[in-house]
Amino acid sequence: EKPRSLRVAVIPGDGIGQEVMPEGLACLRAAAERYNIDLELDEQFKDWATCERYLETGSMLPEGWKEKLSTYDAIYFGAVGMPEKVPDHISLWGSLIQFRREFDQYISLRPCKLMPGIPCPLSNKKIGDIDFWVVRENTEGEYSSIGGKMFPNTSREFVVQDTIMTRTGVDRVLKYAFELSNSRPKKHLTSATKSNGISISMPYWDERVLEMSKSYQDVKVDKYHIDILTAWFVLRPELFDVVVGSNLFGDILSDLGPACTGSIGIAPSGNINPEGDWPSLFEPVHGSAPDIAGKGIANPVGMIWAGQMMLEHFGFKDAADTMMRSIEIALESGGENIRTPDIGGKGTCQSLGSHIASLISKI
Ligand code: NAI
Ligand code: MG
Repeated sequence: EKPRSLRVAVIPGDGIGQEVMPEGLACLRAAAERYNIDLELDEQFKDWATCERYLETGSMLPEGWKEKLSTYDAIYFGAVGMPEKVPDHISLWGSLIQFRREFDQYISLRPCKLMPGIPCPLSNKKIGDIDFWVVRENTEGEYSSIGGKMFPNTSREFVVQDTIMTRTGVDRVLKYAFELSNSRPKKHLTSATKSNGISISMPYWDERVLEMSKSYQDVKVDKYHIDILTAWFVLRPELFDVVVGSNLFGDILSDLGPACTGSIGIAPSGNINPEGDWPSLFEPVHGSAPDIAGKGIANPVGMIWAGQMMLEHFGFKDAADTMMRSIEIALESGGENIRTPDIGGKGTCQSLGSHIASLISKI
């Protein structure tokens, strides 16, 4: 059952992760205070998942990291990467990817929501027109390591990489997506498929969608082939409420969706283990932004919105709603000296962050 208390491991990571995290924490503290949430934000992990740590010790995480983090409900994560000093595959695979895998975070969840004060790249869209979720299967599917290469450097050279779809893996992501649809006013689920071209695994996916839909009579279900679905994201995004896809299709849709709202720079993401057997991880979509790190001008909204998603996930609805409205008010009416440069202001990470935190306390 949903805890009224929440224990969170705070991992700011590299670059602007260290800058946006304090703003995210200030907003979460404001929400927790107002709504009387017993929120523990454990900041003892300051050097975990940092490239500095890697350069000093040869690993991104200390021994025993898994046992230690397992006791928390969630991980609140900033960003990782210092590509000038440590190759990205080492920093990412040594930290974030470990969390996703070891903690069986089989749902990747991203909001696609048109926000006030953020120019929409699509014409003639108004607030409310675009407001949907992309649910991505995050552990199997097309991203498998089953396969190989034979006869290298000969004319017979070939490669094979298999798609893995297990009934357990497909059903659990579908169940999550149906539950999410069922909790929303529109109760509308869209499935991404390609059963006209990928003739074994995608018909199987469709079959499992049909089967799962029988348990959710109130949810209206439709499916689109991935190619036309990407076109509809751009042409008629108001069609969607919850969109579910396999690992590959979900990967594409979860970048395209936020891009259609102009919010990719401020968007959050959840890597979720719905059963709570392991901690779920909430993070901004952006990376460590080495080009602006240390200048104090990073936009903290992605980090704050990720905190909002975390509270929503754990059932703290009032607090999550207030955080969302505060972000929207700040983006809509925060003046030039409050907004960060990426959204047309002269403000700082701190000016925007503390503005949102004060809204959370008082609106
Ligand atoms: P990035 O997201 O760090 O930056 C891309 C561009 O967006 C840069 O010009 C940056 O200044 C800007 N930007 C990003 N976040 C911003 C914010 N909050 N406010 C204002 N501007 C912002 O992606 P990039 O440059 O491809 O990667 C940099 C490093 O981050 C690499 O080491 C990469 O591997 C890592 N990375 C880590 C991720 C994670 O921790 N989840 C995700 C993406 C990249
Ligand atoms: Mg991607």
